[in-house]
Parts: sequence; C-alpha cells; structure tokens
Amino acid sequence: MRYHSIILTLGTLAMGTTAQVSSEGSAIFQLSNDTEFAFMLGATLSLSNNFGANTGEVLRAASQIIPGDFESWYREFIFLANQIHDKAEAINAKRFPISAREAYFRSATYYRAATTFLYANISDPRIYSVWNSALKDFDKAISLLPVPGERVNISAENFTVPAIFYSAQSSMNTPGNHRQNPFNSTKRPTVIVGNGYDGSQEELYHTFGRAILDRGWNFISYEGPGQPTVRRQQGLGFIPNWWEAVTPVVDYLTKRHDVDTDRIGLIGYSFGGTLAPLAASREHRLSAVMAIDGVTDLFGSIQSQFPSNINSVFESGNKTEFDTLLLSLVDNTAVPTQLRWAIAQSLWAFDTTSPYEWLTRLREFKVDQAVANDIHCPVLVNEGEDDSLAPGQAQEMVRLLGRKATYNLFKTDLGAGEHCQLGAESQVAQVAFDWLSDIWEGISVPHIITGGVY
Ligand SMILES: *[C@@H]1O[C@H](CO)[C@@H](O)[C@H](O)[C@H]1NC(C)=O
Ligand SMILES: *[C@@H]1O[C@H](CO)[C@@H](O)[C@H](O)[C@H]1NC(C)=O
Ligand SMILES: *[C@@H]1O[C@H](CO)[C@@H](O)[C@H](O)[C@H]1NC(C)=O
Ligand SMILES: *[C@@H]1O[C@H](CO)[C@@H](O)[C@H](O)[C@H]1NC(C)=O
Ligand SMILES: *[C@@H]1O[C@H](CO)[C@@H](O)[C@H](O)[C@H]1NC(C)=O
Ligand SMILES: *[C@@H]1O[C@H](CO)[C@@H](O)[C@H](O)[C@H]1NC(C)=O
Repeated sequence: MRYHSIILTLGTLAMGTTAQVSSEGSAIFQLSNDTEFAFMLGATLSLSNNFGANTGEVLRAASQIIPGDFESWYREFIFLANQIHDKAEAINAKRFPISAREAYFRSATYYRAATTFLYANISDPRIYSVWNSALKDFDKAISLLPVPGERVNISAENFTVPAIFYSAQSSMNTPGNHRQNPFNSTKRPTVIVGNGYDGSQEELYHTFGRAILDRGWNFISYEGPGQPTVRRQQGLGFIPNWWEAVTPVVDYLTKRHDVDTDRIGLIGYSFGGTLAPLAASREHRLSAVMAIDGVTDLFGSIQSQFPSNINSVFESGNKTEFDTLLLSLVDNTAVPTQLRWAIAQSLWAFDTTSPYEWLTRLREFKVDQAVANDIHCPVLVNEGEDDSLAPGQAQEMVRLLGRKATYNLFKTDLGAGEHCQLGAESQVAQVAFDWLSDIWEGISVPHIITGGVY
C-alpha cells in the first residue's frame, strides 16, 4: 500500500500554519481528525474486505486513538493485537482451524499496524519485536489455509528475497473457476505481487491474494530491499534496479512444476507502481504488468509539492543545511503527521540518516521513455480519482507506454477514488483480473477503460 499524498501537508506548512489538515474533500469517511492517521486507519480497515481485519475492531481502535499522538496509535493497536492473539492461541486449531486462522490473520495485521509510527526512532526495539510477532502470527494463519502458504527465501545476487507461494490447488473446485482457468493443466497461471514504500508482503494476501486464488491461479508475494522484512533482517534500503528482486522470483517460478510459465503476471502496489514497470523493463518473461497505481516519478511529485524554499536548499546541494531543515521537522509535534511520517519512513526505508541522500537516491526511481520502451508486455495502469500522491503520473505512464498500456480511472463516487483504491478491493480485482484473463487468453484489451466498466 500506501504513501499517499504530502500535498496538503506541505501546502499547510508553506502557509506557516501548524494546524492539522482538515478532512474535507477526502475520498472516504475519515476515521481521525489527523489526515495521516485517517489514511492509515482506512488502509487497515480495508483489509477487512479479505479477512485481514474486522471492521468493529478497527473502528473501536480508531475511536480511542488521539489524533497525531504516535504513542496513542501504538497503544491501541498493540492492545488489539495482543487481545486477538490471545484469543487465537486459546483456540484448538486442530478442531477449529478456520477460527484460529482468522484470528491469527487479524492479530498479525494489528501487530503490523502498531509499528506504523515508530520509525522516527529507529533504535526503538519495538520496530523489530512487534514485527516478529506479526510474522509469527501470519505464519500460523497461512499454515492453517486449506493448502498452506509456503515461505521461501530466494537468493538474489546481493541479498535474499523472502517470498510466500500460495498454490492455486486450494480453489480448484470453486464454482466458476474454469472460466478464468481454462488451461487444462496442473501448471497454473501465476500472479506475483509486490508492495510499495511501506507495506508488507503479508498484507498483500488480503489485498490481492485471496482474489487471485479464488480465480484458480497461483499467488506469490515477495519483498525486496527497503521493504519491511528485508529492511529489518538484511539491513537494506531501496534499490532502483528492482529487476534484481523480481528476476529471482521468476527464476524460482520456472523451476516449479505447478506454474504455467507462459502466464506469469506482476502487480506493483502503490510505489510498486514504479517498481514493477522498472522490473519489467529488464525481466521479459512476464506476460503482463499491473501498476496499481501508475507512478512514474515519486521524486518529481514530492519536489513539485515542496515549498520553494525547501527545494532551493535541496537544489543548492547544501546537504548539511537540507538535512538539518528536514530532520528538525520529524520530532516537531506542531508539524503535520503526514510530513513527519513521510520523512521518518523514507529514512528508514532507504537506510540512511540523511534526507538529502534519501531524495538523491529516490530521484533514480523513474519510469521514463527508455524504461517504457524496454517493457514488452501489456501494462494495466490504474489511477484513483482522488489520489494526490503523484497527480498526472498514471496518464503520463500510459502516454510513455502507448498501445502497450490499458488505463483505468477508479471513481470517488463509488468509494474507489483513494490511493490504490483502498477499501474497494473487489473493484480493483474485477478490473485487473478480468483484464489479465483476457491477456492470457489472447483476447484484445482496450487502451482506455471507459466508465470503469471492464
Ligand atoms: C474533530 O474535529 C471536529 C471539529 O474541530 C471536532 O468537533 C471533533 O470532535 C474532532 N474529532 C475527534 C475524533 O477528535
Ligand atoms: C530511541 O529509542 C531508544 C530505545 O527505546 C531510547 O533509548 C532512546 O532514548 C530513543 N531516542 C529518542 C530520541 O527518543
Ligand atoms: C528466511 O530467512 C530468514 C532470515 O534469515 C529466516 O528467519 C527464515 O527462517 C528463513 N525462512 C525460510 C523459509 O527459510
Ligand atoms: C553486488 O554487490 C557488489 C559489491 O558491492 C557490486 O559490485 C555489484 O554491482 C552488486 N550487484 C548488483 C546486481 O547490484
Ligand atoms: C484435461 O486433462 C485430463 C488429465 O490429463 C484429461 O483426462 C481430460 O480429458 C482433459 N480435459 C480436457 C477438456 O481437455
Ligand atoms: C550550507 O549551509 C550552512 C547553513 O546555512 C552554511 O553555514 C554553509 O556555509 C553552507 N555550505 C555551503 C558549502 O554553502
């Protein structure tokens, strides 16, 4: 998921006010007066659509969280996580595997959620201990699936890619599957899904995984450098040569007996909407890519949203001055949460203490004409009508890709206008996977999906 917009934050800052930004004009109902909390609460709540949370549990936590208070956020989610974890542990999983699985999926989500605002202090041991609790509970949950998810560590050149493979077999007999799985083979179409700036591979089971498995396909999630578990276990920040993370996953799939290697799709979620096209520019065994949503140049978007005084310090190349300026914002509780979070999260994910270095490296993540030319497969480019992360960039990606692209705009009035269509997961799955079926079956797809009806 995630890393939505810093526009409002910076606009507010530039005007010299320190008030929290109002929630007017937002795409979905705001669960906190703090816009960043509201967004992250919406992200957690949306996992309820696929067994990753329960609405009442998240809404109760939301009602107790003090806007802008990071410890209050942590306290409510760790309380919820521990309580649901204890319930899960008390269940006899041999007799009641579904009950135990559902509880472990939710405690795992709440443990992950609890860590959201801890990164301003990377010495905070909870960053690791709470994450380990999340991984443990998630692993218990997937071990209780009809066909258990398989954790694998895949060797890349300079690091290891943690991945989870979920076999399609569990849903082979689901009514209706045959239509989207017309290939009479034990080798199944397979969708690789990677997350973005801050989200985990675990949450992707809820966001996309179940929908993929329901269609009779295999699902594999993975994380590369900069993403939560790789950052923690291998100490690595984001790299622009993202194919170094994806190619080993494709290699792994080609060695499996149950994967149809002519039908491997790749989804990039949120900032993954940059990472997946970058990977596809070098990894040509993919038959389709889905950028959910299309982001060509996050650096450019951030720069266009910074007040001019911040930009001019950055462009002057005075690293010391720029670092001092941005670091002073992180611990300043008068600064809007969105900006404090964005800086802290970025330094953590790029494994640096220097905001100047973060932005200098982020500048290398760019889907330009050369990258677009090197992509040989069809690309679905999504956009949320109300998403202000990188305005105009989904259309720019479509322009760069030309006829290789299919563009779809998700609408605010149907609750799908948020960044990554948070909360409207069924709408995304319908469009993305019906499009993907058509690609795999050799049926021609439109360049622009009009009216959101695929
Ligand atoms: C949010 O702000 C409004 C208007 O300032 C106020 O009435 C309301 O109580 C606040 N809600 C929370 C949860 O703080
Ligand atoms: C960061 O966390 C560590 C470990 O809990 C603590 O000792 C330290 O005081 C914290 N630093 C700040 C600036 O809060
Ligand atoms: C993958 O590597 C991590 C970190 O070394 C380790 O904790 C984990 O057990 C490994 N998982 C598998 C399936 O080998
Ligand atoms: C792996 O690390 C080595 C040593 O730092 C470096 O020379 C090489 O370019 C790296 N390989 C990739 C694919 O990044
Ligand atoms: C599908 O494959 C099975 C096993 O190889 C075979 O018995 C069956 O006739 C095939 N069905 C179709 C529709 O090709
Ligand atoms: C960078 O900025 C600092 C603080 O404004 C200033 O003291 C320093 O001289 C500047 N360095 C350069 C190389 O311009």
